Amino acid sequence: MGSKIYDLDIVLATIKKAVKKILVLSGYEIRKKRPAPTVKQHINFEYLEEEPLIYKSDVGKNVKIGKRTMIIRSAIDGNNISIGNNTSINAHTEIHNSAENQIVIGSFCSIAPYCNIFGHNHNHHAITTYYIRQRIFKETGSDVVSKGDTIIGNDVWIGTQSVIVSGIKIGDGAVIAANSTVTSDIPPYAIVGGSPAKIIKYRFSDDIIKKLLELQWWHWDIEKIKRNKNLFYGDLTLEKLNNIVE
Ligand SMILES: CC(C)(COP(=O)(O)OP(=O)(O)OC[C@H]1O[C@@H](n2cnc3c(N)ncnc32)[C@H](O)[C@@H]1OP(=O)(O)O)[C@@H](O)C(=O)NCCC(=O)NCCS
Repeated sequence: MGSKIYDLDIVLATIKKAVKKILVLSGYEIRKKRPAPTVKQHINFEYLEEEPLIYKSDVGKNVKIGKRTMIIRSAIDGNNISIGNNTSINAHTEIHNSAENQIVIGSFCSIAPYCNIFGHNHNHHAITTYYIRQRIFKETGSDVVSKGDTIIGNDVWIGTQSVIVSGIKIGDGAVIAANSTVTSDIPPYAIVGGSPAKIIKYRFSDDIIKKLLELQWWHWDIEKIKRNKNLFYGDLTLEKLNNIVE
């Protein structure tokens, strides 16, 4: 049997042609030519009139969202989740609820980037914490358990990288320090931190906290808030609280 002699140039040209064809078919050539996507550099806060602002986020259709609430680059999905008015949920925050209980987040809350709020636990009392019912037995019904409704009050600030587990009640005005894991109820206006989160201090004196809880300014309409601008600027004093404009 005589061996065939190939011309190296022809071989190289054939390989080049084949590679090009593969790149075109795989979409690589098209992607290479496509212009870079336009990235919005600024969020227009003036947009916050009445409609919530949901920016590059994955929000389930059953999630209830109040007026002027802002959700930036986050994922919120599952059962019975509601968020009040004027709340900000910042980048890479995940809020998920696979349980039947609720997750309720109040108004004027600020949730920093990279927080996680979960309404459910995997069942560690069963032989496995895996989603065995759904994924192996292909049965409907829940593999998860919950310790109850998760209720986050109004004007709550949750610091970055914090985790809130199911069944927790966080009082109005509370502050959760960065990197905290909240595993028990937090009283109103407490500043808590750590894992598990413990009380560090309170934002205000007892008499101011009492007045604030009576006042519930977060339920005021925007016009009343604007009439009381002085109350919202600078450090809070009893004098400011005693001079509210109706
Ligand atoms: C909670 C926080 C507001 C406290 O600020 P502060 O009032 O200036 O308090 P201090 O720095 O004086 O700290 C008070 C005590 O709390 C402790 N502490 C502060 N932050 C803490 C945290 N994240 N976890 C645990 N303990 C914390 C301090 O060590 C200090 O303890 P000590 O009294 O034993 O020394 C601040 O530390 C924080 O975590 N901010 C969140 C930052 C963030 O996530 N920003 C996102 C922007 S949206």
